[in-house]
Amino acid sequence: MRLALLALTTLPLLAAEMPILTPKPGPEPRINGPRVYGVRPGRPFLYRIPATGARPMKFEAVGLPASIKLDAATGILTGTAPAKPGLNKVTLRASNAHGKASREFRLTVGDTIALTPPMGWNHWYTHYDRVSDKLFREAADAMVASGMADYGYSYVSIDDCWMMKPGSDDPALNGAPRDSSGRIRPNLRFPDMPGLTAYIHAKGLKAGIYTGPGPLTCAQYTAAWQHEEIDARTFAEWGYDLLKYDWCSYGRLVKPATREDFTKPYALMGGLLERQNRDIQFNLCQYGMGDVWKWGAEVGGQSWRTTGDLGLERDTRLPGFYSIAFKNMLLADYAGPGGWNDPDYILIGTIGNARSMSQAPKQTTLTAWEQYSYMSLWSMMASPLFFSGDMGRLDEFTLNVLCNAEVIDVNQDPLGKQARVIRKNDDELVMVKPLEDGSVAVGLFNLSEQPRRVSASFADLGLKGQRGVRDLWRQQDLVPVSDQVSAEIDRHGVALYRLK
Ligand code: GAL
Repeated sequence: MRLALLALTTLPLLAAEMPILTPKPGPEPRINGPRVYGVRPGRPFLYRIPATGARPMKFEAVGLPASIKLDAATGILTGTAPAKPGLNKVTLRASNAHGKASREFRLTVGDTIALTPPMGWNHWYTHYDRVSDKLFREAADAMVASGMADYGYSYVSIDDCWMMKPGSDDPALNGAPRDSSGRIRPNLRFPDMPGLTAYIHAKGLKAGIYTGPGPLTCAQYTAAWQHEEIDARTFAEWGYDLLKYDWCSYGRLVKPATREDFTKPYALMGGLLERQNRDIQFNLCQYGMGDVWKWGAEVGGQSWRTTGDLGLERDTRLPGFYSIAFKNMLLADYAGPGGWNDPDYILIGTIGNARSMSQAPKQTTLTAWEQYSYMSLWSMMASPLFFSGDMGRLDEFTLNVLCNAEVIDVNQDPLGKQARVIRKNDDELVMVKPLEDGSVAVGLFNLSEQPRRVSASFADLGLKGQRGVRDLWRQQDLVPVSDQVSAEIDRHGVALYRLK
């Protein structure tokens, strides 16, 4: 096995070849997704059990609180979280004509939500200001039809440009931004917000929305300034499950100097969201100012962007996602269950150009190995996993990068540790992430322009004794090791192992 792997990884790969590493899921059931899940007491509960395998499939959930019901045919759990805080040890089961599977699901009722990094899709980097109700319904359809939902992707998130745009010459955008009671009005492309979230929820998926603390969003649409209370309430009434809150024009009102200047708008909205009658994850977007990772959780955030926009990052020798990761990977101390460092979205597949938004989306220019490295970095860093390419044009290669259950298990591990950097220089990066079952994930990255052997000794990794080795991308067991892990890796490529 090991020899076969070495031989494979030393072959020079043309970008056009795009080797698919993720094995196709078998017909037998495999339950994916998080093993831990947090919900606040008494709040609406919705969860679609992610599972691969042939349908029809029959689902069971043993140990479920009485207030939550399972649809045995779809695997969608709905209801209300128990009023009493505490841990509910649930076992999820799935069976079909080919076999059965089970997975623990620790449902914790309490103050902490987002026990694992959120996963989903955000429209920004494909559609920019070209968004409509129809597009999000189609994205929800595609999340299920493509199989992404079977791996745990669940948020269908609207970014900027759903509101009215004062001064626009487009009649669909140029209406009163708020009604007579001060309630925000979506633009005419979003005729029915509650209908849209109901459509998404009926598939067992979640809905995300966007605004900011300033008078206008980054794209100059109406934002929440001086209407925070009514906007939070409106998002809850419409049925949203996540809010991205983008600093933008707030910077024209306040030149932040003190910690209080940075925290104030987020503490205000964070507090308001917590007081709504549903769980709404709060994603802080202010590009890492004021060391947001030190206080993002305190103001009610479940995730906080640590850097500027990935899509605007200049490529140096390496593509921009690396430099974003190099900043984010230093912040491991600040990530954990309930609060995650967010290095922005996964920009692969058919994707627009953030520097020239009107250009039609095109296939990413990242090589296959760069895309595996991207997904490996985000998984090791316990980052939110939001794809932002075109859901209408998902191709087989992109899905194989996004949907490797064993790679996602590293991202969703219940311990919630962000990987630590063991070594980083111009040529290589080695990261290690402790996992709940006592195993560790190790990422060996070749940053150089040539194939290269990258190794990490057990001393570097803090390991002793013999360890089984699982190649996570190929989902293959390799020969056990007791002194080091090592792989011959192509240019900008990765070997991602789980040492058991
Ligand atoms: C930026 C933000 C992006 C996107 C954009 C929308 O400030 O970082 O992620 O939301 O605004 O205009």
